[in-house]
Amino acid sequence: MKTLYNPEFVERLFDDMSASYNRMNYITSFGFSKIWRRQCVQHLELRPGSVVVDLMTGMGECWPYILHKKCLPAQLIALDFSTEMIRRATVQKAKFPSASILILKENVFGNSIEDGMADCVISGFGLKTFDEAQLSSLATEMYRILRPGGTFSMIDVSVPKNRLLRLLYMFYLKHVIPVLGSIFLGNPETYRMLGIYTEAFGNARKVEAIFRQHHFEVEYLEFFGGCASGIKGRKPA
Ligand SMILES: C[S@@+](CC[C@H](N)C(=O)[O-])C[C@H]1O[C@@H](n2cnc3c(N)ncnc32)[C@H](O)[C@@H]1O
Repeated sequence: MKTLYNPEFVERLFDDMSASYNRMNYITSFGFSKIWRRQCVQHLELRPGSVVVDLMTGMGECWPYILHKKCLPAQLIALDFSTEMIRRATVQKAKFPSASILILKENVFGNSIEDGMADCVISGFGLKTFDEAQLSSLATEMYRILRPGGTFSMIDVSVPKNRLLRLLYMFYLKHVIPVLGSIFLGNPETYRMLGIYTEAFGNARKVEAIFRQHHFEVEYLEFFGGCASGIKGRKPA
């Protein structure tokens, strides 16, 4: 269990996964990952000229939904600690020439973002590789970087409550995905981790409780029968 949440292990995992991450993320969510990201962004109260922080940004998968021409943020700060994910995010940045994007290659638990500078914080699929102590540190960091009244929204793949859906989805994640990983990418081990992390994560209920303890206003969210879950809310004004 210790290794599972060890930052060096997680960083290596995403370095190894980076080349195929987008395709596999799409497959593992039955094509829903893009819809879920868009919905996650919609739960923020984005206004033109805001400062938006995308934590665990990966290679910028949430950016197309944040960087809307009609509602362009003054700045998007995108943070991740994986060298490979950040390298790909830097390539992705060129696709948004009219946006101001600051990419930080940093650990979220020791980041250089200034106190109270974020109007909104988002994180797509970055929760499941954290244990409860790390989720608590994440809440502390988000409370520090959000301005009073600022909003947040986060989502991750989850274990559905419905028995049949749970059996099907977990079988798919734990047994089908590693086979697809080995056929198409020659790497079943990396993708086996997805099922392991998802099973240990369960759903975002514990994240909701932790964020409430940290004085956030929080609402629990479910997507597609609980195949993904998350939280949204705000730092009290
Ligand atoms: C599943 S990917 C999510 C990528 C993207 N946000 C998306 O919507 O698909 C999780 C990302 O979190 C990053 N990550 C995990 N732990 C981190 C930490 N402690 N600090 C910074 N980034 C971290 C990983 O490197 C990885 O790129």
